[in-house]
Amino acid sequence: MDQKNKKLIAAKASLNYVQDGAILGVGTGSTVNELIDLLPTIREKIQAVVSSSAATTARLESLGFEVSMLNSVGDLDVYIDGADEANKHLQLIKGGGGALTREKILAGASRKFVCIIDDSKQVGRLGAFPLPIEVIPMAQSFVARKMVKMRGQPIWREGLVTDNGNHILDIHNLQIPNPLEMETRINQIPGVITVGLFAHRPADVLIVASDNGIRTLGQ
Ligand code: A5P
Repeated sequence: MDQKNKKLIAAKASLNYVQDGAILGVGTGSTVNELIDLLPTIREKIQAVVSSSAATTARLESLGFEVSMLNSVGDLDVYIDGADEANKHLQLIKGGGGALTREKILAGASRKFVCIIDDSKQVGRLGAFPLPIEVIPMAQSFVARKMVKMRGQPIWREGLVTDNGNHILDIHNLQIPNPLEMETRINQIPGVITVGLFAHRPADVLIVASDNGIRTLGQ
């Protein structure tokens, strides 16, 4: 099965977590795009939909969905999103698409966080994928120096301005033996908006698509 098909079957499986009258949060990325294209099939179940990025909003609106602000709906019943890496504790690296801050807000505001990935993203230890950090532009070099002290190699994602008007540093070769501790530590550096480690608020459900079909971890 090719990767696009794996993304599609993972997205399809996640539809089962959307209950009647759901307030649904929608993530960002190519896996979630498969989900968005399926949402018209369950349109009547969705009471409100909240988006994690301008790109996702545009795609939802092109399918006729009216996108609500998080502030006007309260908590989300379910948040569905992809990831760049996932470990067996359902802790994630996210932000490959640069939408990590809004994604983390929606994950935090959700009663159930369903993560959809293909099996290439399952890892024993997080960190082979460069860890994205959203930073306030004036703090970019300062945060980069702090990350060098933590033995990472920061690379500025040049040319990218996030939906929040900030920059992204991608930290290569960072050892992350303890994702909880690392998330806290990086978030405490002044100028950091969010680190793309989702350890304090991991996924509740991880749907993994492989050649053998779907495997679900968590509940
Ligand atoms: C967006 O910023 C990311 O967190 C995505 O959720 C992640 O990069 C997964 O994207 P793909 O589904 O395109 O691999």
